[in-house]
Amino acid sequence: MKMGANWLTALMHVSFCLPTECYLFHKTAETPSQKETIKHSVWRCSICTYDNDETMSSCDICGVLHGPLLNNSIYDKKRTANIFDLKSSRVSSTVVGRDEAVKVSSMRSDSSNLSTEKGKHNRLDEINILKNIEVGPPAGSRTSDNCSASVPEGWLDHVDESSVAVNLQSSVKRSLSLMPKERNVMVDDSSSSRNGGEANSLTSNLENISFAAKSGHSNDANPGRANSRAQYKPEKWMLPEKAEHSLTQLNLAIVGHVDSGKSTLSGRLLHLLGRISQKEMHKYEKEAKLQGKGSFAYAWALDESAEERERGITMTVAVAYFDSKRYHVVVLDSPGHKDFVPNMITGATQADASILVIDASIGSFEAGMDGTKGQTREHAQLIRSFGVDQLIVAVNKMDAVDYSKERFDLIISQLGTFLRSCGFKDSSVSWIPLSAVENQNLVSAPSNFRLSWYHGPNLLDAIDSFQPPTREFSKPLIMPICDVIKSPSQGQVSACGKLEAGAVRSGSKVLVMPSATIATVRSLERDSQACPIGRAGDNIAVSLNGIDGNHVMAGGVLCHPDFPIAFAKHLELKVLVLDGATPILIGSQLEFHIHHAKEAARVARISSLLDSKTGKVAKKAPRCILAKQSAVVEVILQEAICVEEFSKCKVLGRVFLRTLGRTVAVGIVTRIVEEQ
Ligand code: GTP
Ligand code: MG
Repeated sequence: MKMGANWLTALMHVSFCLPTECYLFHKTAETPSQKETIKHSVWRCSICTYDNDETMSSCDICGVLHGPLLNNSIYDKKRTANIFDLKSSRVSSTVVGRDEAVKVSSMRSDSSNLSTEKGKHNRLDEINILKNIEVGPPAGSRTSDNCSASVPEGWLDHVDESSVAVNLQSSVKRSLSLMPKERNVMVDDSSSSRNGGEANSLTSNLENISFAAKSGHSNDANPGRANSRAQYKPEKWMLPEKAEHSLTQLNLAIVGHVDSGKSTLSGRLLHLLGRISQKEMHKYEKEAKLQGKGSFAYAWALDESAEERERGITMTVAVAYFDSKRYHVVVLDSPGHKDFVPNMITGATQADASILVIDASIGSFEAGMDGTKGQTREHAQLIRSFGVDQLIVAVNKMDAVDYSKERFDLIISQLGTFLRSCGFKDSSVSWIPLSAVENQNLVSAPSNFRLSWYHGPNLLDAIDSFQPPTREFSKPLIMPICDVIKSPSQGQVSACGKLEAGAVRSGSKVLVMPSATIATVRSLERDSQACPIGRAGDNIAVSLNGIDGNHVMAGGVLCHPDFPIAFAKHLELKVLVLDGATPILIGSQLEFHIHHAKEAARVARISSLLDSKTGKVAKKAPRCILAKQSAVVEVILQEAICVEEFSKCKVLGRVFLRTLGRTVAVGIVTRIVEEQ
């Protein structure tokens, strides 16, 4: 099925548990004594201020690169300029059932032309690029003094108990400009305490900004909200019972350079695991052959649109699933072509873990590593930026290099260096040589004697070796809305998305933001089946009662009525301008992307440049931010969006900024300067 409208409800859950052994083969625990005896000098991350060991080329906490992208001279540093070169893209949403593919909807988005997006359904979810950036306290907050202090790993989790851990977002984004201007009655004390009133016009906002002298002011726009979130006590039913033995859901993004075999590998895996029947496979083979695309038969299971099949490339993220021994795996098969990077981001933002598919063929691996056009590099860097730190490198098409160990080793050596520079730890990366076409090393040990030199796990074992994702069960409800299903005839509306925190069940009252309207949960669906409770980590469709369908919108958020999230257009951000990107100036017009929403934004102020080593203010009020510099800026959005400070809610506080189809900066929301 294709990611997009209604895909959540289209997920069909059929348990298929393969009796595989679980190998924890790549985790090598470091003993405390080892840790203590090894002492290196450190460098401080300019974004999160974590003190990293000098041997780390990127921040161990947030993945931000330290110094140049690569030390390896075989790569041309300047050529990394184009890694975020994005163009328009199309997302078609289709659903593949077990028996046949059904087209559900098709939408178009051009990320380079934001202003024309108003009123359309924007399907490109380029949000949460900073999934992994766990930053220090908001610049200027009460805790800002700690910014330069050495902090232990994972410290952010303790900075603010209201902080909601990162999970993954679903796929759909629509501009919040679609929201009706008038908003419904505020529903309770906490919501009515927000800054109300009409939104200021962009011009008047710019004229009337009361600029803080520096980043570092009290940045808690609504301290009451933060405190109350910390005091939240979940009800018993919200927490999973120990007796529940359902498989943990693992969202698995399949990424990699164009034509590396991602769809073929995914299709083959699904076929081997019984998710695609023999009959269906025959059908794909026959049709593919008829169109002269015989080698794409397995890929056709995921590449469903006529255009994808004709061109032989994936254009949109396909969603499928299977059950392994440990996980209910949601496969997110991403496009590899650079024109469809925004769609790849759609899948990657939801990933708990990822498979990076490499084409081992001579010249193809090298093409993927090319600094200008190579999506191996770009995808690896992007998924790490989203917080994915568990990776399988599937070295595919080994049949094309005669299953050569030398070729495999060369790929490990060259790509391994790059992955380290992206912030992947060696211990969290598994390398699996395989052939999707010849079915070698996918779900069982290789049968081809030429691969007899390999003694590691097969692909499925490696998937089962991923660490389970953490979920925020005991936090107040947060569900960014990725899609809305309306049934006007029955007067029903359902919000779809991934529960990032908390839980809901039938009868629960939820606050629908930004309309600030209370609705009652009528029923829930998970994998197209009714379910009694949805908990953090679940992809669900929430059918709502007591609300006008126009007030439920992708880009909005379902939250707990007592813990409303913010709705704002004037924000302070900490940003890192990417290597090779054009400088950001005061007045720069950018696309602002956050969870499932994007808005036009203007850089209203550059408060300070931050020292990349210490994270301290290096220069106040600079005129521009150059590539690889980090800074504190204020942006004013054209329309308000649902947002939170990153320290309070990671998933609603990660942003990235784009212009002319390219991502120029990633960042986090450090302060909501003014709420609507
Ligand atoms: P995009 O989604 O467009 O980036 O491509 P992809 O990575 O999904 O590649 P796809 O699965 O469409 O396969 C591209 C071509 O590689 C097809 O012709 C496949 O038959 C071929 N291919 C895939 N896996 C293998 C393999 O293991 N060995 C060989 N020799 N060819 C393969
Ligand atoms: Mg593909």
